[in-house]
Amino acid sequence: MSTPEPFPTIRSVTPDSLEADLATGIVTVHPDIAKGLHEAIGGDIDFFVAESGEGKARGQVGVNWAGTTNPETRAALGLGKGNTAANIAFMEVPEGHRRRGIARALLQAVETEAVSRGYRKVFLSVAVGNTVARALYTSDGFVDTGLRRETPQFERSPDGTYGKPVRKKMDYLVKELGDS
Ligand SMILES: CC(C)(COP(=O)(O)OP(=O)(O)OC[C@H]1O[C@@H](n2cnc3c(N)ncnc32)[C@H](O)[C@@H]1OP(=O)(O)O)[C@@H](O)C(=O)NCCC(=O)NCCS
Repeated sequence: MSTPEPFPTIRSVTPDSLEADLATGIVTVHPDIAKGLHEAIGGDIDFFVAESGEGKARGQVGVNWAGTTNPETRAALGLGKGNTAANIAFMEVPEGHRRRGIARALLQAVETEAVSRGYRKVFLSVAVGNTVARALYTSDGFVDTGLRRETPQFERSPDGTYGKPVRKKMDYLVKELGDS
């Protein structure tokens, strides 16, 4: 019987590490989004990644600290004037490494940083029917805002390439961050 791999290291992606993290696939996003990341990382956007001792990708999550200006989304999130909620996205743990608590640890990293920046809420959208992701988020304390909207989503094929964006119905979930 083989020894299970040690739990990966959770770290943030920095402007200095981004190029290498994209090249090694530690961060995996659509090429158009990757271009924008060079400007945004360490500013409005951060990524947290899980990395094995051998430098292999074990998971990622992104966060947009600017949140949303969409009035419908803001209303669903219960955001007053001037309030912001950080938007979590790009959550993924590679097949073969799931169900070890990696996604939960990535969420925790984002939420800890959000609390230290003074955010009271984080939110995300999850495709209708993605019961696994939904189970992750609800077990972490996210609740459904009741907002469901169709938005274009980039989906990666098994060969790693991206096709045209596909319109998908998304449910918006929010989590209130505690004071502790
Ligand atoms: C969703 C995803 C990120 C979960 O990653 P993971 O590292 O396996 O999740 P964790 O091990 O941290 O699971 C945390 C909790 O989520 C729930 N969960 C995770 N996988 C589950 C499954 N297959 N069935 C039911 N519940 C599940 C459980 O409550 C779990 O806690 P438990 O193991 O103590 O019961 C992963 O399955 C994935 O990458 N899926 C494809 C991409 C995707 O859908 N991303 C989300 C986009 S919104």
